[in-house]
Amino acid sequence: MHIQKLLTLFLAITFLTTCKKEGITDANTGPTYQEQHRPQLHFSPPTQWMNDPNGMVFFDDEYHLFYQYYPDSTVWGPMHWGHAVSKDLTHWEHLPIAIAPDEKGYIFSGSAVVDWDNTSGFSKDGEPPLVAIFTYHDPEGEKSGAIDFQSQAIAYSNDRGRTWTKYENNPVVPNPGIRDFRDPKVIWDADNDQWVMVLAAQDQVMFYTSKDLKAWRYLSQFGKNRGAHGGVWECPDLFPVTISGTGARKWVLLVSINPGGPNGGSATQYFIGDFDGLRFRLDPEFGAEMARQAKKDSTGVAASWVDYGRDNYAGVTWSDLPQEDASRIFMGWMSNWDYAQVVPTALWRSAMTLPRQFQVKETAMGPRLFQNFVEELRTLRGEQHEVDITASPGNPQDLGVSPQQLEIILEVATSNTGSFGFELSNSKGEVYRVGYDADAKAYFSDRTKSGKLDFSEKFAPSIHYAPKQLEGVLVNMHLIFDVSSVELIADDGLTAITDVFFPSEDFTMIRFFKEEEGMGIQRLEVYPLEGIW
Ligand code: FRU
Repeated sequence: MHIQKLLTLFLAITFLTTCKKEGITDANTGPTYQEQHRPQLHFSPPTQWMNDPNGMVFFDDEYHLFYQYYPDSTVWGPMHWGHAVSKDLTHWEHLPIAIAPDEKGYIFSGSAVVDWDNTSGFSKDGEPPLVAIFTYHDPEGEKSGAIDFQSQAIAYSNDRGRTWTKYENNPVVPNPGIRDFRDPKVIWDADNDQWVMVLAAQDQVMFYTSKDLKAWRYLSQFGKNRGAHGGVWECPDLFPVTISGTGARKWVLLVSINPGGPNGGSATQYFIGDFDGLRFRLDPEFGAEMARQAKKDSTGVAASWVDYGRDNYAGVTWSDLPQEDASRIFMGWMSNWDYAQVVPTALWRSAMTLPRQFQVKETAMGPRLFQNFVEELRTLRGEQHEVDITASPGNPQDLGVSPQQLEIILEVATSNTGSFGFELSNSKGEVYRVGYDADAKAYFSDRTKSGKLDFSEKFAPSIHYAPKQLEGVLVNMHLIFDVSSVELIADDGLTAITDVFFPSEDFTMIRFFKEEEGMGIQRLEVYPLEGIW
């Protein structure tokens, strides 16, 4: 190659690496998705602030993802609904902002449905409309010291979610005098021929019913003395699932809570029970297990957590999936209100979790929620990376593969002591560790030495633990690493940890470590994953 060309290439590479390191993006070209810490497998907004996933609905071969978005800053502000669509739950196409704030307030979290039978009358040209149900948050009302500044409203779309018209008679559910009154999730209850809305009301959820999505009537409430109450309840979801094998149907109620999560700050708990069209009642066995857990817990609180990590919040499931009786697809916001607004990313803030499939199965503890990464993610797998584990205590083994975008499936018959797992590191000596601690009988995620920490003292004061919930000696872990995050699904799907981290230089090495001899690896699969952007 000509020397001048070489020089130009060298300068271009130096410039691009500098840009990547500093998170700089050329204003003329927009985001590169190569910025430092930018996830390569997860959804993140092109620029600016994002929080909760909203209005997730499947229609006309598209998975819609709307999200809490503030287009003018990388910190929270007047909320809009940002918008993206996917054909495969893996690759995303960004679309213009769907719903913007107006004189009635900011557009807070909510859901969307396909109104197949045109119950709302919003249909055009015989096509079913999409209807979004969201919370108006009136900042003026809040400032004035009023408590009724949140109410529920609707908007509809006749062009596959591209443009939205707000309903002229909003709000459809006025505030009944409750300060935190938000995040409506609407489902079609086919058994009772009605729409059901579940929303968060401070320390409980409330159910409403409607025939047309416009006129709503209060039904019942749940949760005042149930589950965790270390913070305000937010972003509920309610859905039925058929238990694999038995044909029996259970209802799952998801409730996010902030703060009060198992490892601090924001987290999502779940309840399993029945919904008869009027009330949600806990499944007796699920309730009995909660009581048993409460006795064991020093604080007397029992909650079942969707995720024990610190970075899976406000997650809900997709509406109108073609086959949704045996499972639901879930996505959460991969951050935590404890530090979300100060994480060290320059151009954008935060990402969503990977989509996960939720199922309910009977266990010795009664019915439990099981999760797994959606099958579609397998299409990102590169050729399997072969490793023969020879690590011994004190001698961690380099897997010889980049941990930047990596999937690992590990099954181990455990010894009863010591810990094992994976350690990510870089040349600066920064490390992140994730694995299983047999002494604690718990999975752990340790980001206390993972690089940039000082942006918030709440970010990494301690190691995060998740109790092993699967009986027996087998430990199984399914891990996905993506530049600045890990998602661990363990115990066949019973236990999860999702955490983000920010090494000051990308992690380049991943090593397997173990503290004791006595463990047998029964399965190890390692796949580099192809980025989605
Ligand atoms: C949850 C939440 C919701 C609210 C939204 C505002 O993270 O606080 O309760 O609707 O964020 O952006």
